[in-house]
Amino acid sequence: MTPTHTRRSFLSLATVAAASVGLTGCSLFGVGRNSAGSAARQTDMPAVDGSRTLVAYFSVPETTNPNGMTQDEENSTHVVDGKVYGNTQYVAMLIAGRLGAAQFRIETAEQLPLNHQALIDRAVAWQDANARPALKAQIPNLGRYDTVIVGYPIWEYDMPMPLYTFFEQHDFSGKNIYVFTTHDVSGLSGTLEKVTEMLPRAKVSTNAFEISRNDMNDSQPRVTEWVDRIAQA
Ligand SMILES: Cc1cc2nc3c(=O)[nH]c(=O)nc-3n(C[C@H](O)[C@H](O)[C@H](O)COP(=O)(O)O)c2cc1C
Repeated sequence: MTPTHTRRSFLSLATVAAASVGLTGCSLFGVGRNSAGSAARQTDMPAVDGSRTLVAYFSVPETTNPNGMTQDEENSTHVVDGKVYGNTQYVAMLIAGRLGAAQFRIETAEQLPLNHQALIDRAVAWQDANARPALKAQIPNLGRYDTVIVGYPIWEYDMPMPLYTFFEQHDFSGKNIYVFTTHDVSGLSGTLEKVTEMLPRAKVSTNAFEISRNDMNDSQPRVTEWVDRIAQA
């Protein structure tokens, strides 16, 4: 992985991967690993109770200005009624709204660069160092929640490193955990397995949700379908 790749290289890597296996539903990078539309219902998870659920998400919209966005800024945002959301932030809002759940934004103690290349450089440096970037805050009153739904963008084919800090710094013992991602082409990119390994005392659902940033205009019905399924598990 080079620190300078761009949106185009995510696409070309996916294309190479798809071509090399001859399938679009299975690839080196998890392209098409969509458990949202195709996963069997997971019957070993209890139905999600929105009043005891927290949606925790990490999201870095690269601008707050809805006008005159660059391509990179457009890629990293979803604009509704003139308001700019990060892709993951928007999906978190839809999930929480549908369930009547609380929200918590996972933020780093340090302010992240909004410039796209600077953000990639930071992400790559953290990944190379296997860093645990400090977080601004912990979830207050975690004991109030039975279920935590954790959302993040795929960064460099993995969770952003602040998510490792997040999972290590909270005690999720006995909680029901769901994950969701937004991405360009990488799907869950093996992160569900990593979260499951990191939280041996939690019940991590195999029914994860992922959506490409290119499909954000279809996010509402897709989120609704997934949320209604986990709410009736
Ligand atoms: C530093 C960085 C690395 C990224 N790496 C990947 C990647 O490996 N695969 C992918 O499909 N998308 C990748 N993306 C695209 C993001 O996953 C995608 O734009 C996501 O929706 C951003 O979510 P946000 O707006 O909530 O921050 C990357 C974006 C950034 C900024």
